[in-house]
Amino acid sequence: MIKLAILISGRGSNMLYLADAIENYKIEAAITLVISNKDCVGIALAAARGLATKVVKRSDFDNRLTHDAAIASAIEDCHADYVFLAGYMAILGPVFVNQFAGKLINIHPSLLPAFKGLNTHQRAIDAGVKTHGVSIHLVNAALDDGPLILQASLTVVKTDTVKILAGRVLQLEHQIYSFVLFSLAARNVTLLPDRVIWQVATLAAAPAEMQNALASCVIWPDGSPHR
Ligand code: GRF
Repeated sequence: MIKLAILISGRGSNMLYLADAIENYKIEAAITLVISNKDCVGIALAAARGLATKVVKRSDFDNRLTHDAAIASAIEDCHADYVFLAGYMAILGPVFVNQFAGKLINIHPSLLPAFKGLNTHQRAIDAGVKTHGVSIHLVNAALDDGPLILQASLTVVKTDTVKILAGRVLQLEHQIYSFVLFSLAARNVTLLPDRVIWQVATLAAAPAEMQNALASCVIWPDGSPHR
């Protein structure tokens, strides 16, 4: 059973989807704590769902270092094996990032390295890209950087507004993040501080919903074994 802490700042749809996936697909994982850096819809939804929650407000701390340290000690206290960032809208400092090297995972709504930072869907439309998507990656000290764990793509179509595209990507986000969790729990992927090793790079054992959503669009990182 792997233990998970999830950090959020907003609506928390990825966090809720992960909780649903654990339950619906009997993934050998437990969310031991949901942490937010402010009052937000997501933290209320997590609490309503019966998950342990903690709000660690930035404004209660003098600086980022002490704020990060308070979050880190909450994570240590709940013995999390992995920390999933799911719409956590603050930059974590290098001390925090090093403390959780190889355990700290982020989801970003673009095909990295394209469109790091904010407003990814608007920028994708403005740039006229044909292919857009979502990336799951290990977090390192640079923004939206770090070794890729998995990506999934979609084709941008004429009718895509920012809102429509964001919705399409979000659906993929839910599937790919829960698939990564599934894979970690099944020990099909190993995360090292600077490297991702897929032992079994396949969707075959995953729940049908994940397979259906990802089969035609998953992008395994370079060097993954044949699937
Ligand atoms: C998602 O688009 C995620 O990729 C990004 O922040 C958003 C969070 O959405 N990092 P939600 O709070 O999980 O609904």
